[in-house]
Amino acid sequence: MDARLVLLPGDGIGPEVVDQAQRVLQAIASRFGHAFHYECRPMGGNAIDSHGTPLPDETLGACRQSAAVLLGAVGGPKWDDPHAKTRPEAGLLAIRKELGLFANLRPIKPSPWLLSASPLRSEIISGTDILFVRELTGGLYFGASGRRPHASGEEAYSTMTYNTGEVERVVRVAAEAARKRRGRLTMVDKANVLEASRLWRAVSARLMAAEFPEVKYDVVLVDSMAMHLISRPRDFDVVVTENMFGDILTDEGSMLTGSMGLLPSASLGSSGPGLYEPIHGSAPDIAGQGVANPLAAILAASMLLRHSLHLETEAESIETAVDNVLSAGFRTRDIAAGGPSLGTIEMGTRVIEALAR
Ligand code: IPM
Ligand code: MN
Repeated sequence: MDARLVLLPGDGIGPEVVDQAQRVLQAIASRFGHAFHYECRPMGGNAIDSHGTPLPDETLGACRQSAAVLLGAVGGPKWDDPHAKTRPEAGLLAIRKELGLFANLRPIKPSPWLLSASPLRSEIISGTDILFVRELTGGLYFGASGRRPHASGEEAYSTMTYNTGEVERVVRVAAEAARKRRGRLTMVDKANVLEASRLWRAVSARLMAAEFPEVKYDVVLVDSMAMHLISRPRDFDVVVTENMFGDILTDEGSMLTGSMGLLPSASLGSSGPGLYEPIHGSAPDIAGQGVANPLAAILAASMLLRHSLHLETEAESIETAVDNVLSAGFRTRDIAAGGPSLGTIEMGTRVIEALAR
């Protein structure tokens, strides 16, 4: 296979972890006889510095022409000024919207070798295997918002808007995934309060009955979900929810695995390139020190091979290699529990060595 991949290393630890993911992709290319062509482009805070915008047109153009995009992380204190004209995060929202990436897949499966890394007891988390499908281009993130004068000073508003089609397409992605997994789908909403949630509920129920009668479907309110996620995580298979609820629940869910440094995500549209990224942020506190955990970025590369290039064997070989590295006891600092740890590059090297075995 011949594929054009765009790399958006971004800010903070982004470039360090994307480097390791690229090394792993290269190892896969030579082992399985593929040719991957990489184009590295500015995005996020570094793009604000060099181009005055977090998502330059040429970056977006290169992404559109590619088979898939691998992103590190964006943001940092340097660009945190609330009065700034633009922010790195705006680039992330823009690329999601521009590429039509409405479905964000965030698998949460604690590694059996790292059960003790989670702040939760291992008997609660062991056996957990959840796929979160977060709606990514609608809701509060993209609804009408603004400020207006108010007797007390000012009034600000953000609105959650969803239409039938937006709900249907993301629930369909989730239900199709459920069908290939354990056949269960949970839809999370706040239908006791929000009108947008009541639409989600009606549309999902209709779609599930019409197209996925064999998938066991239930609904849970988001506040109870926050509770169930840490009290009985094993009971969930695929979970689908709107943008903001998904943002919050997946950060909570990441703690089931102990470290955000392990979690990849895939953002997919109905056609065109997908965007793959670790769910951790730019971690400015440890940027440039060579200690960041590259495994989430490496696992994001594996999702890229699976979902955009349909190279399932190659994707699984990366996952097996990561599993072997962890079972052999290799750790970066974030998951070492104070014990001996490897740097970012050494960890990448261990994964590449495990691939060769
Ligand atoms: C995420 C992040 C982003 C989001 C931020 C950086 C805009 O938290 O991908 O979960 O809220 O979607
Ligand atoms: Mn988030």
